[in-house]
Amino acid sequence: MKIAIIGPGAMGTLLAALFTKAKEEVFLIDKNEERAKKINEQGVFVEGLSGDWPIKIKTIVQLKDLTAFDLLILCVKSYDTKEAISRLKPIIKPTTYILTLQNGIGNIETMGEIINSDQIIGGTTNLGATLLSTGKVRFAGKGETIIGKLDGKIPVEMRAIRELFNKAHLELKISRDIKGLLWSKLIINVGINALTALTRLPNGKLIEYEGTRRIMRDAVTEALRVAKRKRIKLLYDDPLAKVEAVCEATSENVSSMLQDILRKKRTEIDFINGVIVRQAQELGIPAITNRILLDLVKTVEASYAI
Ligand code: PAF
Repeated sequence: MKIAIIGPGAMGTLLAALFTKAKEEVFLIDKNEERAKKINEQGVFVEGLSGDWPIKIKTIVQLKDLTAFDLLILCVKSYDTKEAISRLKPIIKPTTYILTLQNGIGNIETMGEIINSDQIIGGTTNLGATLLSTGKVRFAGKGETIIGKLDGKIPVEMRAIRELFNKAHLELKISRDIKGLLWSKLIINVGINALTALTRLPNGKLIEYEGTRRIMRDAVTEALRVAKRKRIKLLYDDPLAKVEAVCEATSENVSSMLQDILRKKRTEIDFINGVIVRQAQELGIPAITNRILLDLVKTVEASYAI
């Protein structure tokens, strides 16, 4: 399978390395020329769950020379989706599938405004990846990946994606209910990401303190109320227990939002707790804990320069 992975962040770098190791034809696409040059020259280094190993990955800035890909995997931040898909549009052929494993809600819809919705596959992953420096990544958590389409169909290409993940020793499931899936992952991110970003704790520590456990419970409860009013069918009978289980399964992981904060980068808070705040407001129900988490993370972002 000819694969392009967009964005050399933690998840993009890890997947590119694992698929290249599994002997697939992988290109990493990066809009930053200097960084792409560095990755090409130095290669990628993976440490953690799959051992410590170096690998060479073709990293590309110029898209115009590229021929058709079977699969594009979008690993940019949610606030970059529109720009990335617009840039990629010329290399998206009618036979190309585009998979998004990004956090948050709204990415599939944003992509669907620019390219044919039929070619978009959504998904969530509980894989833990930490970017240590450019091209150096820690494989920190082996959670499952689940994919699906908005129309509920399962084209043969989705089974090929499952084989691709399995070849790289990664678990992948296929779902017909992508909305329920994305909301189930949203609830996990609502419970973990802002709290780790504000406390600077790794995921596992959140369930060790009374205070963080209480805030997690309140934020998740508010999100569940919104999901219920929207008649979203969640994957888990006890979503709070699932959030705690993910904390345990990825206990050493520095969440993606904490990684952003530590690098003084914009976070995905608008696409996570921000979604709950906006939708609760529309429904006329309270979401005070999510409001506070949103405001605090925004304040941290706004004060990076101090
Ligand atoms: O955003 C993240 O970091 C991940 O989605 C998760 C599952 C919270 C693990 O750190």
